Amino acid sequence: MGQIATSALVAYFHDLSFMVCFGSLVMERQLIRPNPNRQQATAMVITDIVYGLAALLVLGTGVLRVLYFGQGSSFYTHNPIFWLKVGLFLTVGALSLYPTITYILWAIPLRKGELPQVSEVLCQRLSWILNVELVGFALIPLLATLMARGIGFSPT
Ligand code: HEM
Repeated sequence: MGQIATSALVAYFHDLSFMVCFGSLVMERQLIRPNPNRQQATAMVITDIVYGLAALLVLGTGVLRVLYFGQGSSFYTHNPIFWLKVGLFLTVGALSLYPTITYILWAIPLRKGELPQVSEVLCQRLSWILNVELVGFALIPLLATLMARGIGFSPT
């Protein structure tokens, strides 16, 4: 496959994985409820796994674009908007550790055929974290479109 076609595919997977990430966050947000039944708790665990894998793909394809398929790595590293974008991505990733660890803890009783104990307070906390993550994620493409056009770039 030619360099241009490969670059198009990497760009496509960057966009697609972002959509899957955002979609699974929305689903997770929708699924959260106190004392879920088995099916609901399993669905939450699965959407979080999909989200995690898609987030890794966003990061992997992003790094590939910086290194090989973009406008040259210094075009990005000399732009604070790029670092803001990466920083926001990592912040959202760090925020999602809390829900992820929570779901891993649910997977333990679920495998034994028991239901996790999910309080109203925990639900509210998870919903709040997911809201912040969704807003953060929605801002990232704006930073991307700005940096792709060289806004914020300074050669020194
Ligand atoms: C949720 C996270 C992310 C989202 C939503 C996102 C979104 C986007 C979008 C929409 C573009 C297209 C910009 C345009 O052509 O107008 C883009 C391009 C790009 N992204 Fe990301 N991105 C994310 C994370 C990352 C990360 C973590 C990196 C690097 C480590 C990265 C590196 C790049 C690069 C190098 C480009 C190419 C810019 C160009 O065409 O010159 N992205 N991203």
